[in-house]
Amino acid sequence: WPGYAPEIDAIRALKRERNAVVLAHNYQAPEIFHGVADIQGDSLALARQAADCDADVLVVAGVHFMAETAKLVNPDKTVLIPDLRAGCSLAESITAEDVRALRAAHPGVPVVTYVNTSAAVKAESDICCTSGNAVAVVESLGVPRVIVLPDGYLAHHVARNTAVEVIPWTGTCEVHARFTGAEVETFRARFPSLTVLAHPECPPDVLDAADHVGSTAQMIAYVRRERPERVFLVTECSMSDNIAAELPDVAFVKPCTVCPHMKRITLPRIRHALEMLAPRVELDPDIAERARRPVERMLAVG
Ligand code: 13P
Ligand code: SF4
Repeated sequence: WPGYAPEIDAIRALKRERNAVVLAHNYQAPEIFHGVADIQGDSLALARQAADCDADVLVVAGVHFMAETAKLVNPDKTVLIPDLRAGCSLAESITAEDVRALRAAHPGVPVVTYVNTSAAVKAESDICCTSGNAVAVVESLGVPRVIVLPDGYLAHHVARNTAVEVIPWTGTCEVHARFTGAEVETFRARFPSLTVLAHPECPPDVLDAADHVGSTAQMIAYVRRERPERVFLVTECSMSDNIAAELPDVAFVKPCTVCPHMKRITLPRIRHALEMLAPRVELDPDIAERARRPVERMLAVG
């Protein structure tokens, strides 16, 4: 990433000085993903690897809930998020009070909470899940009914892939909710050999039109393994840029669908965070204690 070399060199030097690692979500821009990340992945991989990490400082190149999860599993480490405003429409869609009301309306039904939520919402939950393990997490509970929140489309996807009855919430991802099945069909008509991989945060007609549904890491694994001639990754568009850099033989159909929250993270902001050791993610100790349990329970599901 030659145009970014001075910034990348400065960040690499700061990482050594601070014994820091950068954890980058698959939606980060290529100069971050390939230029400075030590750990790359989907929400599940970042949570797992944050838990296994022996650095003193974790810089989360992702959104706020990802940094909170890293802090939950590393309470004694310094966890930095280069821009505190990097939020998520799903995390904004539900409060701890909403979860308490859902529990009151469905007594005894376990609450399965997508990691795209605040620590306060996780603290009201029985177990967390990600897009990569939601079905396995729901089935691990061995119960006939679960509440899956906050993403209504993910809940719908889980319901279609398990015999367990799913009570959903109404949140959506502002990025994935914009895709339509008609758009997928338009690209298929134009490129007959197209392989379509979709994220479960997409609406049901998009998932119906896809060849394969999976988390961001599952989509990447599919492309690396199958090497399709041409692929449409129905998700945030930086992910296609990141794999295209690695697999020049695969063609990508890539309408630009940017997550504005992910894009708040930039190289200058990562550098500034490492220089200042701020902004830090801090959690209320009581909320952190209660939120850690559902995250650790999820990580134990395997
Ligand atoms: P993944 O866990 O699949 O990476 O998804 C995270 C996310 O925010 C998708 O929009
Ligand atoms: Fe949240 Fe959607 Fe952005 Fe993922 S892509 S961080 S779910 S707003």
